[in-house]
Amino acid sequence: MKKLLIAGLMTAAFSAHAAKDVQFLHWWTSEGEVNSVEIIKDKLVKSGFNLVSVPVEGGGGKIAKSILQARAIAGNPPDVAQLEGPSIKSWAALGFLHGINDAAEQHKWDENLFKMARQIHRYDGDYVAIPVTLHRLNWMWVNREVLQRHQLTIPESWQQMIEVFADLQQRGVAPLAIGNEPWQIVQLFENIAFGLGGAQYYKKAYIELDSEALASQTTLEALHLFRQVSTIVLPYITKQTWDSATQQLVDGKRAFQITGDWVAGDLMALDGTFPAHIGCYPTPANEAGFIYNMDSLVLFKSPRLDAELANQIVESISDPQLISAFNKQKGSIPPYYNISLTGFSSCTIEAYQDFHLAEKQGNLVPSMIDSMAVSPVIEKAATNELFRFFNDPSIKPEDVILHMQSMGASNISL
Ligand code: GAL
Repeated sequence: MKKLLIAGLMTAAFSAHAAKDVQFLHWWTSEGEVNSVEIIKDKLVKSGFNLVSVPVEGGGGKIAKSILQARAIAGNPPDVAQLEGPSIKSWAALGFLHGINDAAEQHKWDENLFKMARQIHRYDGDYVAIPVTLHRLNWMWVNREVLQRHQLTIPESWQQMIEVFADLQQRGVAPLAIGNEPWQIVQLFENIAFGLGGAQYYKKAYIELDSEALASQTTLEALHLFRQVSTIVLPYITKQTWDSATQQLVDGKRAFQITGDWVAGDLMALDGTFPAHIGCYPTPANEAGFIYNMDSLVLFKSPRLDAELANQIVESISDPQLISAFNKQKGSIPPYYNISLTGFSSCTIEAYQDFHLAEKQGNLVPSMIDSMAVSPVIEKAATNELFRFFNDPSIKPEDVILHMQSMGASNISL
């Protein structure tokens, strides 16, 4: 009994100094992503916090976002959550988020943040989210050994891409590493659409859902190409995650993967360096440009997390050194002018240069996935159309166009 009492007192004394738990809800579950989360965890430990990671499987964050919604409505939000794009403003408008102007002032975000990031992370003039990454989504990851073995070269147009795919298929090689999940499939489509039509067409057709742009020859061609790819890949495609697809690329079971530079994070996680046989190339496009998404962290108001505590956590996570280390591991660009890319991979350095060029030339576009470009309701409807088209050869391009035109006419901005 005495022993128990002493043990109890010791536990109480210990917990008086125990680090405060910080619950963090996110969808970073691949090997590279887990390594990146560890970097945040280590930093918080140094600041006297204990990061309790709440990972929710599912690239693109669809499931994580609905769990977040359910928890917030039930009055039990996590302390910190991963969010993206315009949804930050929606959460802030509902009064769920802590303002973080102190950190913004301390780190001079008004000067140091990339221009478009300033807009995304503010609501009503106040900063409400920490900008963490800028990802490029028009990347093509190539297993050079597979191409060399079959004496094929890197395709420079979508037409060539189809030819190379068909060639590989004839030789018994499955060309494209991809999982049959809606967000992965739609990302493939946006690369095709952007590649054929360029930034202005992409904005008109898929952000404004402009009826004329949707009915154009370019949309028909994009859907036709999308169908050609689906005809090649449907016989072997499974519902795998993007990171298992990356593993197939690395192992030489596939020749290409077309997705964002989170792939680089997983490639570097393999043995600490970027494998020499994998190369990154901008996806073929008639006009150079940059498709992006961004990851942001927000802090939810709750009885557990008052403004003072929230401030301490933000101070720790918004540290430029942490942001730099995180992006280096994640394969992304730190969205700050004052963070240098020394020691980053050559893919990130190339992406950074292309980003600034695209910004100057007006060829910078948000991805359609992750609600970066359109409202979540429209995103869901458009994704559904494109995913069904990819999987069902009986659906005609004209039907997809008609349905997307109806979405545009619906004026829904939820
Ligand atoms: C995106 C996110 C990236 C990456 C990717 C795959 O939504 O922006 O950071 O995690 O999903 O999981």
